[in-house]
Amino acid sequence: MRSIGTTDLSVFPISLGTNVFGWTADKETSFAILDAYVDGGGNFLDTADVYPYWATGESTSETIIGEWLASRRNRDSIVLATKVGMLEGLEGLAPATIRTAVEDSLRRLRTDYIDLYWAHVDDHDTPLVESLAAFDALIQEGKVRHVGASNYSAGRLAEALKISEAEGVARYVALQQPYNLVERGYEGELREVVAGEGLSSVPYFGLARGFLTGKYAPGVAVDSPRAGKAAEYLETVHGPRTVEALIELARERGAAPASVALAWLAAQPTVTAPIASARDLEQLRPLMEAAALTLGAEELAILDEASRP
Ligand SMILES: NC(=O)c1ccc[n+]([C@@H]2O[C@H](COP(=O)([O-])OP(=O)(O)OC[C@H]3O[C@@H](n4cnc5c(N)ncnc54)[C@H](OP(=O)(O)O)[C@@H]3O)[C@@H](O)[C@H]2O)c1
Repeated sequence: MRSIGTTDLSVFPISLGTNVFGWTADKETSFAILDAYVDGGGNFLDTADVYPYWATGESTSETIIGEWLASRRNRDSIVLATKVGMLEGLEGLAPATIRTAVEDSLRRLRTDYIDLYWAHVDDHDTPLVESLAAFDALIQEGKVRHVGASNYSAGRLAEALKISEAEGVARYVALQQPYNLVERGYEGELREVVAGEGLSSVPYFGLARGFLTGKYAPGVAVDSPRAGKAAEYLETVHGPRTVEALIELARERGAAPASVALAWLAAQPTVTAPIASARDLEQLRPLMEAAALTLGAEELAILDEASRP
């Protein structure tokens, strides 16, 4: 288990992404995925009020998780993370928006507290201090335990942290941003802020939308709403080279390429727990195995080298 920043949140090293629930995984399959994740030692769920609104027009992921928590009666053993700021009609981080969104999420999740509440995107139209004060009020009321920032620039994250200190209001404890072997933009100013301020990185797109599982190849049709974007990596120089290295290392370790890709990410400085999603139990297995896979310095260096653009 690993800690989120300096908080008391102790999490499994792979967070389960749940934007597939109600989208590419129906309710029954979602329950099976959640059960298997918890049976394998997992405890860290990543959802959002907007998942998967684009497909269902509803916050189906939160609703499914809420039903599952109620039926399994295991709320206290789960570290539950959700987000505010991107749902149609509740965009941004104005205090009133945060207040409405949190009540809606709590109702759907059938709980009275959220462990980690993410600002899903930065909001340049609301002064940072106002959003942070709104989050602070939720923490004081016990509705939220900690807050994090998602999709923030290094400058804005640093500014938010400075304001929290100066004003004595809630402080972001983690950053959620895209990061994986073929998308390494995080390894610059953002990582410096996260490291310097003692935050945790909880990266998403850990599998580059499925590309790093090795299932994308020239001439191969993948049946997925992610296929268009994921297959774009085939057109890069470093994408195919990275997958080749992953497949070779996976063969040597008797693991799946997806496990190796996530183990690489989990081993990077500041990363506490990569997020990855699975649409069925077969896809979940390599995600769980990643948590127990430690790569050696030589293996990390091979992947490092192969994935440099
Ligand atoms: N903060 C943000 O703005 C933000 C944005 C995006 C996502 N997220 C979070 O991150 C999570 C993960 O994002 P993501 O699912 O888009 O990216 P991802 O984890 O990089 O890719 C996961 C996808 O890869 C495929 N896959 C996974 N395991 C596989 C396996 N073993 N074999 C073959 N294919 C496999 C599945 O898609 P197919 O079956 O469709 O191929 C799966 O849904 C989301 O659920 C969400 O919680 C956050």
